[in-house]
Amino acid sequence: MLILGLESSCDDCSASVIEETPSGPKLLSLVRRSQDDLHGPFGGVVPELAAREHLLQIHGVIAEALRQAGVAAPRLDRIAATQGPGLVGCLLTAFSAGKALAWRCGVPFVPVHHLYGHLNAARFEAPALPFPALVLLVSGGHTHLYESTGWTHLRVLQKTRDDAAGEAFDKTARMLGLGYPGGPVVDACARRAQAAAPRFTPPKFRDGAASWSFSGLKTGMKLRIEREAGIGEAGPEDPRVQALCRSLQEAISAWLLEPIPAWAERIGAKSLVISGGVACNSRLREEAAGLAAKLGLELAIPAPKFCTDNGAMIAAAGARLPASDLPLELNADADLPLPAG
Ligand code: KG4
Ligand code: ZN
Repeated sequence: MLILGLESSCDDCSASVIEETPSGPKLLSLVRRSQDDLHGPFGGVVPELAAREHLLQIHGVIAEALRQAGVAAPRLDRIAATQGPGLVGCLLTAFSAGKALAWRCGVPFVPVHHLYGHLNAARFEAPALPFPALVLLVSGGHTHLYESTGWTHLRVLQKTRDDAAGEAFDKTARMLGLGYPGGPVVDACARRAQAAAPRFTPPKFRDGAASWSFSGLKTGMKLRIEREAGIGEAGPEDPRVQALCRSLQEAISAWLLEPIPAWAERIGAKSLVISGGVACNSRLREEAAGLAAKLGLELAIPAPKFCTDNGAMIAAAGARLPASDLPLELNADADLPLPAG
């Protein structure tokens, strides 16, 4: 089965062709246009600029993905596109383009929940993953832990009360003048650190509910930066900047993994999936490998190109989800909920 996957929920415009085979998805092409240079000066995604840029990019991105795969659109068995959640102006581009192309070529259209995309990114690494799985989805907009009994099922176990983990990376990079997006630069700085700065104290919740919070980390970082004269302009070569990045990364990685053993026991998990942009983080990947081995869980962390938003993960989810009977009546939905269950 040949599937075209389209994704434009935030600031990545991406298309990919995969072949779904009995042994899992095979990547035939993956095209992704970053908008980092466009949003960089603002230190974060500007929704209106992102939506306009998607409109300029989408045709070229689809054409290039089909060309690289050597597949003409009418030969496709399915076209899948992200329906939500995300920035609505951005979502509309790939979703409308997907519907139009499917209608024009008489190909079935599959609407995909963005988080099923991040989950299915793991199918490229681990097509025979054992379930139930614990699924940690960490990006610029999500920090959620789910129980999953299969590739199209997610039930939330705990989530952040405030900021997503990716925001802590992006905002730290902004305060340190390291550029956007923050995750990759903070990661690179942290790896060069000779020592870590003092530890950040994990938050304590009076109500005892299982959750995360990253807003205090951001404030703690701000206070430390204010105390260190000139650190905001010092740049990535400065050992103080590197040490701060390292302690931020160590804190985020430790906090994210802290609840895993208890949940793994509680749901009888056989595997652990970590996906979303923050799953590119080198420290998190190392720590997760050690933890999964200790707990006897099979670990699936997609390759970095499949962790950040991309069309291949949407195509992989589109292979597993039902095609729509009335695709032209569907619309993009900024707050699309996960199906109950
Ligand atoms: O999944 P994604 O591409 O888009 C969203 O759905 O948000 O995730 C983007 C987030 C950004 O916050 C970015 O800073 C973070 O992923 N990120 C990283 C790394 N690479 C990207 N965070 C930590 N370490 C990285 N190496
Ligand atoms: Zn995402």
